[in-house]
Amino acid sequence: MDAFLPEHKRTIYCGRVRPDQIGEEVVVCGWVHRRRDHGGLVFVDLRDREGLVQVVINPGESGEAHAKADVLRVEYVLSVRGTVRKRPEGTENRNLPTGEVEIAASSLAILNESKPIPFALDDDSDVAENVRLKYRYLDLRRPSIQQMFRSRAVLARAVREYFFENGFLEIETPVLTKSTPEGARDYLVPSRVNPGMFFALPQSPQLFKQILMIAGYDRYAQIVKCFRDEDLRADRQPEFTQIDVEMSFIDRDDLFRMMEGLMARVMKDVVNQEVSLPFPRMGYVEAMNRFGVDKPDTRFGLEITDYTDLLKDTGFRVFAEIAGKGGVIRGITVPGLGESSRSELSALEDVARIGGARGMISWKVTAQGISSSIAKHYKEDQLKAFLARSGARPGDLVVMVADEFLTACDSLGRVRLHLGEKLDLVDKSRYSFLWVVDFPLLEWDKEEKRWGAMHHPFTAPLDEDLAMLDTDPGKVRAKAYDLVLNGSEIGGGSIRIHRQDVQSKMFRLLNIGPDEARVKFGFLLEALEFGAPPHGGIAFGLDRLSMILSGARSLRDVIAFPKTQKATCLMTDAPSPVDNKQLRDLHIRTIAPEKKP
Ligand code: AMO
Repeated sequence: MDAFLPEHKRTIYCGRVRPDQIGEEVVVCGWVHRRRDHGGLVFVDLRDREGLVQVVINPGESGEAHAKADVLRVEYVLSVRGTVRKRPEGTENRNLPTGEVEIAASSLAILNESKPIPFALDDDSDVAENVRLKYRYLDLRRPSIQQMFRSRAVLARAVREYFFENGFLEIETPVLTKSTPEGARDYLVPSRVNPGMFFALPQSPQLFKQILMIAGYDRYAQIVKCFRDEDLRADRQPEFTQIDVEMSFIDRDDLFRMMEGLMARVMKDVVNQEVSLPFPRMGYVEAMNRFGVDKPDTRFGLEITDYTDLLKDTGFRVFAEIAGKGGVIRGITVPGLGESSRSELSALEDVARIGGARGMISWKVTAQGISSSIAKHYKEDQLKAFLARSGARPGDLVVMVADEFLTACDSLGRVRLHLGEKLDLVDKSRYSFLWVVDFPLLEWDKEEKRWGAMHHPFTAPLDEDLAMLDTDPGKVRAKAYDLVLNGSEIGGGSIRIHRQDVQSKMFRLLNIGPDEARVKFGFLLEALEFGAPPHGGIAFGLDRLSMILSGARSLRDVIAFPKTQKATCLMTDAPSPVDNKQLRDLHIRTIAPEKKP
């Protein structure tokens, strides 16, 4: 192995060598991606984070370099000094940005060796994710992954620049803090000096940013880590990053305008796309009715249609009963699927069941009319009206679910997304932003049999719905909004309650008694009495945004050291047992079976 010598200091990234440098002497440093021996001439593809360049080691030009080239293996670390030259006619590689040139090595230093690697670093190699995560430092060397982190860095820079230019202050909020009510479980940290007491890691800086408004810092934005102990999915991590924002003396439209400006800037800087402003807005109820979800992917149709009024009067008991109990009968018209086989329909039904549906009825439309196992329960004019509303033509299929409103929405929403993918209806080149507004303020918690805040308890009700807080709380809408991009919730926020009396009333509604409110949020309630300005804000999921903009399939691809589905880190083996002394210092005794550290 060679020392890193001054004359071997990098002058350029491998991936940045270009034809205008032909004739120049350069030094590149990187990893051996591939090595080929062509009867004396040795070719090395040298790779760094910017890409690959071909290095040629000719025994006639540098005997010493050639002797070293013999031992080179994949992922050895090299520094190469040489001259940039044009590749011989016919040997150019048009698929590589550096493909017109190569470096003729005059000297070479082997800076380190590498054991044989457990998987190839080519982008198309299909490697089990647990292996990739265990050797994350190797996985992170893959060009497609490196591209994602470049894109993420550009995103973060665009965000910071935009906020700075618009007068926002980035202020850090604590990580060791008190529980924040974002609806997930907390990660707790025991306090050594306060036996039996715990900090909670923040699920978001929600309360601190509100306090900052009360403190007069009227435009705040922070890129900040948040922690939530919740069931993980492809778009959720226990530790994730928010772009957290709060503003004073604004209404919803001011905030939307500022955030649309942010998104326009991000889209320009990260994917070089112009977006048209303002973004469309859709009420929560409309989104649920038409798309079955509160984060609709509006890049394709297949919208949901309600048939409750047309199909409730029937001898088919299931439909009649569900409609009688206030449920809904809804369906999706799917062009061209009228010939679906029994097993294809059953696969669709399985998708609906994931959303909670107990079953799915299908109607095939043929030149002769409608065929369905339940058609016999309807009169001719009912079927006619149903057909007209469905817009279905011969060869089409209508899939239908009857259930409680939310279950029918969820089931058909899933069927819709499934079909959108399966029938290739989604234009992947489009970015479709949508504000979803007017969420319900409260949602009924069936298990606890009480109201819970749909966003969080500091969200203000719509002024025109305030009176219903006492009479019909379920109907009250909130000044809450989500920003949706291509069917993914990339951000959510609200205009806050800034009056102490309204906040106390909200706590009462949520069954949070005065004592509990004082213990949990006393500092906020008190601060609200010292001149709190009207304020509101939003937080975006930076990882989610980065995932969508870099075309990644999982959040794990855009987080350098992510956790698995089981909230573990395969590279460091965290979480792990600790020794008993540490536990004693923290005044903690575990009831889990003891493991050796
Ligand atoms: P909310 O809980 O909606 O709002 O979170 C804001 C955004 O953060 C992202 N997000 C996540 N990303 C990855 N993994 C997770 N586990 C995860 N959870 C949330 C989503 C989401 O839209 N304090 C409020 C904001 C406010 O009212 O200003 C809040 O945190 O993209």
